[in-house]
Amino acid sequence: MAETLKIGVIVGTTREGRFADKALEWFEKKIAAREDMSYEVLDLREAALPFFDEVAPPAAKPVTDPKAQAWGERLKHFDGFIVLTAEYNHSIPASIKNAFDYAFEGWQRKPLGTVGYGGVGAARAVEHLRLVAINFGMVPVAGAVSIGGADFVKASQGTPISELGDHLEGPAKALLDDMAFWGWAAKNAKDEAEARKAA
Ligand SMILES: Cc1cc2nc3c(=O)[nH]c(=O)nc-3n(C[C@H](O)[C@H](O)[C@H](O)COP(=O)(O)O)c2cc1C
Repeated sequence: MAETLKIGVIVGTTREGRFADKALEWFEKKIAAREDMSYEVLDLREAALPFFDEVAPPAAKPVTDPKAQAWGERLKHFDGFIVLTAEYNHSIPASIKNAFDYAFEGWQRKPLGTVGYGGVGAARAVEHLRLVAINFGMVPVAGAVSIGGADFVKASQGTPISELGDHLEGPAKALLDDMAFWGWAAKNAKDEAEARKAA
């Protein structure tokens, strides 16, 4: 079987009753249907990271908290990440920022995609997340899913996202196609850089 990319799908909010579970249920079907990638769900509720409390940033010094160590190690296994994000007060939920703050190596030079949801489809949060990602040498991809406006209201009230119509299919495909393109581009470039160093 051809090698596939390993994508981490990060569930970014943690509160009880979160909309994130609806977005995940829908999005998992899209990514599971891809033959060019495999995925795992990285749920920040399960990761249960403490609020950042280290003497130095992980880029400068390994973290000491055991849950954060496990989080950082787990990230290293993936070729890229898709974050399911809400918008909290015009930015990303603190849980997501904290999860980024708590690691370094595992984020490096990998593509970052988003499935945003909320009144404006988490548009402002997604833009902020892209800026954070650049600090880690990540590649924020252009393709993105945005579940906003009437879609968000209907889905919040119980309509499954899959029954909202087929207008989210195109953005989901664009997101996954971009993840595949930039995931391989980054992986190949890293392999070539290693080979050049060894030569
Ligand atoms: C603390 C907080 C701040 C919020 N701020 C915004 C916001 O700035 N823009 C927006 O569209 N929705 C905002 N909302 C509404 C969220 O889009 C909505 O509650 C969504 O379901 C949150 O995602 P979650 O259910 O996965 O936690 C906010 C919700 C919370 C809890």
